[in-house]
Amino acid sequence: MGTGRARIAASILDADLGNLANAVRRVQAAGADRIHLDVMDAHFVPNLTFGPRTIKALRRRVELPFDAHLMISEPGRYIDGYLDAGCDSITIHAEIDEPIEPTLRAIKAAGRAAGLALRPGTPLSALEPFAALLDIVMIMTVEPGFGGQSFMGDVLEAKAAGARRLLRHKAYGGEIHVDGGINRETAEPAGAQGVDVFVVGSALFVRGRDMGREVRLIRALADEGYQYGMNDGVPPIPRDRMVRIAGLPKHLAKQLSVEIEASGIPVVMLRGDGQMNPDGVRDYDLLVPATVESDVLARHATRRDDLLGEADTWRLALLDPDAR
Ligand code: DX5
Ligand code: ZN
Repeated sequence: MGTGRARIAASILDADLGNLANAVRRVQAAGADRIHLDVMDAHFVPNLTFGPRTIKALRRRVELPFDAHLMISEPGRYIDGYLDAGCDSITIHAEIDEPIEPTLRAIKAAGRAAGLALRPGTPLSALEPFAALLDIVMIMTVEPGFGGQSFMGDVLEAKAAGARRLLRHKAYGGEIHVDGGINRETAEPAGAQGVDVFVVGSALFVRGRDMGREVRLIRALADEGYQYGMNDGVPPIPRDRMVRIAGLPKHLAKQLSVEIEASGIPVVMLRGDGQMNPDGVRDYDLLVPATVESDVLARHATRRDDLLGEADTWRLALLDPDAR
């Protein structure tokens, strides 16, 4: 699992299709952050790959999260199979003929991340009616159907900022995925567009190349692209970095943690090694992802400070019940 900001989703489309179990183990050992599963039905795209039964069999082989990319005409008809197969996220295409909303709702109702993918020629506006249901926007930078095609950088440039706006309802965890033609040459320009997840296929399965080194290189280049293209030269905050935003007695820590989580931001509550309270229990620390620290403080700093005051009153009352 990588440090840094960029996440690498390894596509096994160009792996040895006769030995997919080995392919998923290899990409996991190479340090990929998740596995991108290209499902094709020879109808929505001119290629045929695998379905839920293969994915379910692969699920037992590795721990990495599974991102299913459904390039099929009728995802609604088969969605239960992909949920049952253990996909962590499911992305369907905006260009399908069947209704989109019910399928996105089914994915979310199962507690998975729901996404919509766009062919290069499809405008971002096609996603607007479904924005509130999206966890993932997948920008295709090749025509879907095959690996090893050339990266369409202009398509990403035209859509990335709009995709971020479409995901702004997500206080945390909204992801822009770029899919198609990502390699050592294209990772940096893609990173400069603020992409979160980089799908990498054929570039990982080059004979004689060290796959682990390729994953590290592409991730580092993507983060460089973000650093200089979008972050004024400041290195990106690593995604798995957590910061402490408060230390409070357990009952007050619980209150604040529930309020922050209600805004869609994950909170880790840990028994701290800070202040010991009159009841013999130390304060609990609240930690949030460093990438959203400023949002958390913008929304919850006043409440946090009120609770810090309440904590003082509570301690005094415990120390001197007559003071009440
Ligand atoms: C293409 C697929 C992609 C493809 C990426 O339709 O959706 O995920 O496997 O492969 P590369 O990285 O080779 O373009
Ligand atoms: Zn894909």
